[in-house]
Amino acid sequence: GAAVEVDISQLKPGEKMTVEWRGKPVWIIRRTPEQLAELPKLDGQLADPKSQRNPAEFTPSYAQNEHRSIKPEILVAVGICPHLGCSPTDKFATGPQPSLPNDWHGGFLCPCHGSTFDMAGRVYKNKPSPDNLPVPPHMYLSDTRLLIG
Ligand code: FES
Repeated sequence: GAAVEVDISQLKPGEKMTVEWRGKPVWIIRRTPEQLAELPKLDGQLADPKSQRNPAEFTPSYAQNEHRSIKPEILVAVGICPHLGCSPTDKFATGPQPSLPNDWHGGFLCPCHGSTFDMAGRVYKNKPSPDNLPVPPHMYLSDTRLLIG
């Protein structure tokens, strides 16, 4: 499939845009400093915090880091749950949210069977999805131009 070029210059902190790549939704999210600061605190609650499972399919080497991305603030992830293919819903939040399950700090919630993911698309332990949301192959053409694929 053809690569997709995306201009992210208008994407503000806390915002998400979705583009289609190979028929799949790809999310691009500019995380806030608060959301980034929370990521390392969550490792103990996650199934694969270092994104080591099946990296060829889920996490390219340049995204095997704390923020799971090339630029710390920009998450690029395929918005399809690795369990059975539903599309998770955004539940962005900072800090524990009483209305969310298990003191979950927010991220993405799969409506089909309840897998929860953090703001790096990392799945929580003991959820139906064994894997994190896939990070697609991508690179930056400039500071604000992203090439997916
Ligand atoms: Fe997402 Fe089952 S498809 S939890």
